Amino acid sequence: MEGKEERLEYVWIAVIILMLTSFLGLLGYATIIKGYSTPEDVVTCEVKKLDEQITPGIEEVAPGVYVVNITGRQWSWTPNEITLENPKKVIFRVTSADVVHGFQIVGTNVNFMVFPGYIAEITWYPPSDLEGEHLIVCNEYCGIAHQDMWAKLVIERG
Ligand code: CUA
Repeated sequence: MEGKEERLEYVWIAVIILMLTSFLGLLGYATIIKGYSTPEDVVTCEVKKLDEQITPGIEEVAPGVYVVNITGRQWSWTPNEITLENPKKVIFRVTSADVVHGFQIVGTNVNFMVFPGYIAEITWYPPSDLEGEHLIVCNEYCGIAHQDMWAKLVIERG
């Protein structure tokens, strides 16, 4: 005859199986159906030779398609002002010359960490109604003047 404890054990086994299947199910949903993934094709760079490997600046490689190379260092972003005309696709290539920084364009979904020794390459499709001035901040504490580390993104439409 089954005791009360034994029945409780079956209940807990069922709870654990349910949790595992729901976690794995969510993982499968996120990766297979939604296509989420961890960063691939990691690009490394040598901090000491940074200037040879990344030249900060903006390049329009096709109409509306921009490649923006940015270097972060305590406590500024270079370039400090990024102006894009009718951008459809923006590829940010961002690296750090010293410590970990966080690159965030306030009010958008652009938000990633920047590590010395790596070039973070992020593709952004700005919403077609996004225009005007937008603040770029550093959102990883990177030292005494962290709060002064900001830049400006200007989107011109027309
Ligand atoms: Cu860079 Cu905070």
